[in-house]
Amino acid sequence: MIVGGRRPSSATMRAALHREWGAALEIAEVPRPEPAAGEVRIAVRATSVNPIDIYTGFNAGYEQSMLLPYIPGWDVAGVVDAVGYGVTRHAVGDRLFGLAWFPHPAGTYAEYTTVPAHHLAAMPTSQSFTEAACLPMAALTAWQMLDAVGVGAGHRVLVSGASGGVGHLAVQLAVARGATVTALARPANHAALYELGAHSCVDYTDTAAIAAIGTVDGAIDLVGGEFGASLFDLVAAGGTIALATAWSIPKYDVAAAECGIRAVSYLVEPDAEALRAITDLIDAGHLQVIVGAEFDLSRAPEAQRWVQERRGFGKAAIVMGSR
Ligand SMILES: NC(=O)c1ccc[n+]([C@@H]2O[C@H](COP(=O)([O-])OP(=O)(O)OC[C@H]3O[C@@H](n4cnc5c(N)ncnc54)[C@H](OP(=O)(O)O)[C@@H]3O)[C@@H](O)[C@H]2O)c1
Repeated sequence: MIVGGRRPSSATMRAALHREWGAALEIAEVPRPEPAAGEVRIAVRATSVNPIDIYTGFNAGYEQSMLLPYIPGWDVAGVVDAVGYGVTRHAVGDRLFGLAWFPHPAGTYAEYTTVPAHHLAAMPTSQSFTEAACLPMAALTAWQMLDAVGVGAGHRVLVSGASGGVGHLAVQLAVARGATVTALARPANHAALYELGAHSCVDYTDTAAIAAIGTVDGAIDLVGGEFGASLFDLVAAGGTIALATAWSIPKYDVAAAECGIRAVSYLVEPDAEALRAITDLIDAGHLQVIVGAEFDLSRAPEAQRWVQERRGFGKAAIVMGSR
């Protein structure tokens, strides 16, 4: 069996995997991967759940690009335990975190995973493995979407899905860039968002309150569908809305053009340099990741349910625990 598409060895490890598309996640013993040239092997201490882990595992549409048995997961925090040929930037014993391989399969719901060395950066010194594992996909998405919108000092920016994994980081990163941030979230989450620096919070079910926001210079939509499209009217002419979930849908381009704005369909990519900038903000106390729940690997299905059912604020982590 090939784990995450890379070379296996005779040693084994525990992983959470789907044997068939749509089958329940199960915990199994599988071959431990060996690092190829340019890769390091990470002894994973923690990973985190992103909604796309669930879409890919339960949606046969991904079978073209993912292998069975499929080990989900792209976020990783852990310790280098082997390096492949040619790797000079990291050494055995380094504590690293990163977004592995995305959008190709990575398989981080496992005790070990192999990752291109340039996808990884040194962990923030102030963070636990659990906290660090909750950062890569969510923080890089937030960071790169803010870049796509051109958010900087003095900008007024709207963030939908603000209480989620990406959203709560996007709010803080926009504030750190000097923007004025309006966060869309359920009222139960407003206090936490004000605590993280949001300048105003609006209930996303209250259409009158949304209409009363006025206009913003740019927006980050983490909800998608008709909800995302309903935000176009709030962006001032010439502004940009970045969409995390509405990829290349022509009707959005038409609607955006009618509003005189730009709609950018966005896909996150691994970026160790941005991770270093994010680390600096974390270690300086300007950014915090909220770990809403933590599960042992054996409870990976429950961790995914926590995300699917939106049981709390922020991220859900999966920790490896002891064998
Ligand atoms: N394109 C990319 O590269 C990329 C990268 C990362 C994530 N994403 C996508 O971005 C989205 C957010 O990711 P995430 O990790 O932040 O997910 P998450 O942690 O599950 O958060 C989802 C957020 O959406 C809000 N929400 C759910 N239904 C809503 C509705 N009908 N109207 C308004 N808000 C609603 C939730 O608010 P409440 O809890 O208050 O209901 C929550 O804040 C996901 O669809 C994910 O797949 C895309």
